[in-house]
Amino acid sequence: MKPLQSLYTMARNLKRFWLNLRVHVDDAITFARSSGLLQEDQPGVLAGHVLKTAHRVDKGLSLPDSQPGHGLQAAQLLSRQLQGHLRHSGADWVWQSGRAALARRARHEAGVPASELGVAMRAREVQEAASGAFPELVRVRRSVRQFAPGPVCIESLKRACELAALSPSACNRSGGRVWVATEVEQRRRVLALQDGHQGFGEQAAAVAVVTVDTSAFHTVAERHQAWVDGGLFAMTLLYALQHEGLGTCCLNWCVQPSTDRRFKRSVGIPLHETVVMLIAIGALPDEFTVAHSPRRPLDEVMHGLGSHT
Ligand SMILES: Cc1cc2nc3c(=O)[nH]c(=O)nc-3n(C[C@H](O)[C@H](O)[C@H](O)COP(=O)(O)O)c2cc1C
Repeated sequence: MKPLQSLYTMARNLKRFWLNLRVHVDDAITFARSSGLLQEDQPGVLAGHVLKTAHRVDKGLSLPDSQPGHGLQAAQLLSRQLQGHLRHSGADWVWQSGRAALARRARHEAGVPASELGVAMRAREVQEAASGAFPELVRVRRSVRQFAPGPVCIESLKRACELAALSPSACNRSGGRVWVATEVEQRRRVLALQDGHQGFGEQAAAVAVVTVDTSAFHTVAERHQAWVDGGLFAMTLLYALQHEGLGTCCLNWCVQPSTDRRFKRSVGIPLHETVVMLIAIGALPDEFTVAHSPRRPLDEVMHGLGSHT
C-alpha cells in the first residue's frame, strides 16, 4: 500500500472508530433515560417489575420438581411490588396477573400439586395444532420446562434450521447461525454461564445457541441490526421446532461482555458472532404443564398513529 493511501485509511478508520464510540455512549445515555436502570417509580418500570416477578413465581410452579416453599422470596417481593403498582396504576391487568400468581402459589403452599396450578398441556394436542394452521401454531407455542427423556432427532433440527434460514434479514445479510449441543458434556458447558435454565435446562436433549455473524454489518447505524435479524431468525426457528413436534424454551443471554467472551471461547463460537439467545429443546412429555403467562390486551399493543398536518 502506498504511504498516502495507508495514511488515508488510518484517518478514515480513526474517524469511524470515534463515531462508533460516540453512538455507543449515546445509546448508553438513552438506555439510562428510557429504561428502569436508574428510575424505579415510573409506572412502566413498576409494571415491568411486577410482570417479571410474577413470572418467577409462576415459572417455579411449572418446573419438573416444584416443591412447596419454593419461591418464597419472589412472592414476598411481588407483594411489595403489587402495593407500589396499585398506588401508581390501580388494579389493572398487570396487578391482577400478579395477584393471580400469588394466589396460585398460596394454593401450592396449601397442598395443591403444581401440576394442577400450571396450564395443562397434552403432547398429542400440541403436536396436532402445531402441524395445522398458523394461528394455531402460534397459540399453542409455549415455553416448555418439562421434557420427556430421550434424544431429539437431528433431522428435525436440520429441517428447523433450514426454515429459520429463510427468515428475512437486513439487505439479505443472512447472518443467523445455530450452534447445537446434544452431548451431555457440551450441553453442560453451554449452559454453565446461563442464568435462567436452573431446574429444567439439564433435561433438555439439545441446547441451541442462536448467533448472528456481526462481520457483515459495516456502519455504526447498523450496530443493533444483529439483534433484530437474530430475533426474527430465532422466532422462525422456534416455530419450526414447534412444527417438528418438539418443546422449546428460550434462554436469555443477558450477560456482561467479559462473560460473553468467556462463553464463546469455552464453547468455540467465533468472537465476531453476536449471541442472541440460547434455546432448550426436547421431546414433549405426554402430559405436562406450562407457566401462566398473561399478555397485554390489544388496546395496549396496537395504537393508531396521529395524523400530523
Ligand atoms: C429472549 C428470551 C429469553 C428468555 N429467557 C428465559 C430464561 O432464561 N429462562 C426461562 O425459563 N425462560 C426464558 N424465556 C421464556 C419467557 O419467560 C417466556 O417466553 C414468557 O414468559 C412467555 O411465556 P410463553 O413463552 O410460554 O408464551 C425467555 C424468552 C425470551 C424471548
